[in-house]
Formats: sequence, structure tokens, C-alpha cells
Amino acid sequence: MADFKRLPGFRDFPPEDLALRAHVFDAWRRVAIRYGFREYDGPPVEPLDLYVEKSGEEIVGQLYNFEDKGGRTVSLRPEMTPSLARILGDRSRGMAKPIRWFTIPQLFRYERQQRGRLREHYQWNVDIVGEESAAADAEVLAVAIDGLRELGLGVDDFRARVSDRRLLTALLGAVGVQDDRLPAAFAVIDKIERMPEDKARGRLLDEVDLDDAGADRLRALLECSSLTELRNQFGERDAVRDALAPLEEYAAILDAMGMGDFVKLDLKIVRGLAYYTGIVFELFDAQGELRAICGGGRYDRLLELVGGEPLPAVGFGMGDVVLGELLAERDLVPPYRPHVDYFLVVIGQEQRSHALGIATRLRAQGRSVAYPLRDQSVRKQFKAAENEGARTVLVLGPDEAAEGIVVARDMATGQERRIAPDALE
Ligand code: HAM
Repeated sequence: MADFKRLPGFRDFPPEDLALRAHVFDAWRRVAIRYGFREYDGPPVEPLDLYVEKSGEEIVGQLYNFEDKGGRTVSLRPEMTPSLARILGDRSRGMAKPIRWFTIPQLFRYERQQRGRLREHYQWNVDIVGEESAAADAEVLAVAIDGLRELGLGVDDFRARVSDRRLLTALLGAVGVQDDRLPAAFAVIDKIERMPEDKARGRLLDEVDLDDAGADRLRALLECSSLTELRNQFGERDAVRDALAPLEEYAAILDAMGMGDFVKLDLKIVRGLAYYTGIVFELFDAQGELRAICGGGRYDRLLELVGGEPLPAVGFGMGDVVLGELLAERDLVPPYRPHVDYFLVVIGQEQRSHALGIATRLRAQGRSVAYPLRDQSVRKQFKAAENEGARTVLVLGPDEAAEGIVVARDMATGQERRIAPDALE
């Protein structure tokens, strides 16, 4: 027989694994709804062009693309943001702003195999469209932070590292990076933490055209984690001052929400995707051992770029893979417990239609009910009841039927009651 193996980078979800996924999704959904977001979805396959250029080289190199039977070049969705832009492009004009939408799609990227990165993952996307104030940026970060808090993680477990592409652009100008070298500088900074020091320096000299002193200034700048210090050092430059204002407002809002401790300025956060235009952020485990749990930011030009109304937008994607690793590390994965309200132990074939009547009535009342699908010994049936996690076992035998009752055994306490089937609830 053929040996059908699971493809590398994909997961099976047997019930015990699906339970964790459902636990995470439920928390995400509760939090999004608490902040007034509405759930949406879109197709898992999109025209390839939706991603080319808009998402950036890195993601385009990882696309699951193919030609469909109608000769269209298409791709499985590697991220949700271009779909959101496309979906709103068709309908945003008549909609009240800001638009607050969330979704939990499964996404596909042909990634190099590494810890925390698979070829499919689920990603909670939360976006606000049609609002350009820093309050919207702060609101989406608050949702991300609360999404993790809802799962039991706290300030000892994770941090949001925040930057702003407008601020970084202004600061790079201040340390001597020429305008035409900005994209190269962004690309190096995006990877600088995962690069050996000499390689980083080499790239700053060759690709960003800095001299040794300029490279030193840039390295020192990237270590600065205080807005006040940036204002003191570079505040006389208009571009820096203008770019600092939204971040200062953002920090003040998050402080007022009691979330300041989670947030850290980190100019090394650039984000790999091409469309970001303002504040950007990533959430990491506090020890900094895992890959990013979440990434997002402001993308004010994407909607227009895909042919829609020119609307400012901000949002994030939080993946389930690294989050699952962190929850396991912190012992925050709830134990898997199958559960049914009732398991019927049916003694003798003649009791079967009686059992079916009881099961049907209880199910109509919303109870979960299981029973053996064929004749079995009482011992085996009790074993099955345990396996199913039955709260109560109902014993239906000829003696009980003659008396017009069932025996209901509470599986936690072992206590038994004799009860008329109609009185069960
Ligand atoms: P992203 O940074 O590419 O952003 O992905 C967001 C998160 O999804 C990552 O931090 C990570 O947790 C998870 N993730 C990404 N790729 C993989 C993978 N191969 N395996 C496991 N997890 C992964 C975006 O996708 C943006 N579209 C987010 C966004 C929404 N920006 C604005 N709105």
C-alpha cells in the first residue's frame, strides 16, 4: 500500500491538539468582540498579483502559487492583509468608519523549516481601517496584549517591541543615511539581530554606504529605547520631532490603559512586509528565545494600492505556532478532557429503542449523550463511559425498565439515584 505521509510543515489536529487550538481561538474571539470588532473571512486562494509587490520579496518567495484549471495564476493566501484590502476595496465607501474587523484564517507559506515556523499556520488578524490617529494604533496593540493576557500570559512572559518607520527614516537621515539608501538600511536593520557583528558592519558599509563612524552612530541609535532621549539628542531636527509626536501620544494612551509595562521602544523592529508606513510592532516572549508571536503596524497606502478607497489602516497578525510553544513552556495549556453529559449503559438488545428515545429527548434539550453502537458487556460499557468523560452514566436494564426508572450514576462521586427518564435534564 502507498505510504501517505503528512507533508513537511503541516500539522494534523487530532482532538487533543484541536482542543488547544479551540482554546486559543475562543480567547482571541472573546477579546476581539470585547473591543467591538466584527468577524469576517475571505477566500483561501487569491490572484497571485495581490501579493506580488504589495507584500514584499520575502513573502513572495514563499508563495504556494500555481495555475488553476482556468489558466489563472493564483496563490494560497500567505497573509490576510492584502485580502482585507481587496475585500474593503469593493465595499468600504458606504461603510461607517472606522471599520473594526477581525478574522482567524489558515495561511500558507513555503517556509524554510525552523522552530516556530511551519508551512501553514492560523493567524488572528485584527485591523482598524479608516482612522489615522495614534489612538487606533494603540487600540490594536491593546487588543494584541489582551489576547495574550486572556490566555494567562503576563508582563513576565511577553513584550511588545515598537518602532515607527517614519521615525526611523528621520533618524537614519540624522545619522547620515542618504535617501536612496533607505530601503537598504531598512533591510539590514530588519535582520541585524540575527547577523554576526562583522557581517552587519560589512553590509552597513557596502549596501548603506556609511563610513565606520556612520555605522557606529547607527549601531548606537538602534540601542536607544527612550523617546525622551531621542527627543533630547535629535529634537532640533523637524523630521524627527514630527515623527516622535505620534509615538509619544501612542505611549501615553497605552500608559493610560495600564499597558505601559508591556511596551518597549525598539528601533530594530522594521517588519519584513513592504506595505507598512508608520508605527510597527512585534510581540516576543520576554526571554527573547522564540520567534515573534505577533507582528503588525500601520499601512496607510495598501487599500489604495489594490484599487480601493484611500483609507488609512492599522492592524496585526498573531500566529498560533509560537504562541502554542510559549503556552506549553508556561504550563498554560489546559489539560485535555473529553466530556459527555450522559453515557447510556444498555443491557440487552430489547432496551435499545428505549435508550434511543431517552438519548433523543436529552439531545433535544441540548445535552451531549453517547451510548455503545452494539451489544456489549456492562463492564465494557462502563469503561467506554470513562473514556468518553461521562459526567453521568444511565443504566437501562430490563429490571429498571419494568419499574419505569433508570439508574443514574454520578461518575465523580459514585452516587446512584433511581429516576424516571422523563425527570432527567
Ligand atoms: P507577519 O509578521 O508575516 O505579519 O506574521 C504575523 C505572525 O504570524 C508572526 O509574528 C508569526 O507569529 C506568525 N507567522 C508568520 N509566518 C508563520 C509561519 N510560517 N509559521 C508559523 N507562524 C507564522 C503578517 O502576516 C501581517 N499581514 C500582519 C498584519 C495584519 N499587519 C497588519 N495587519
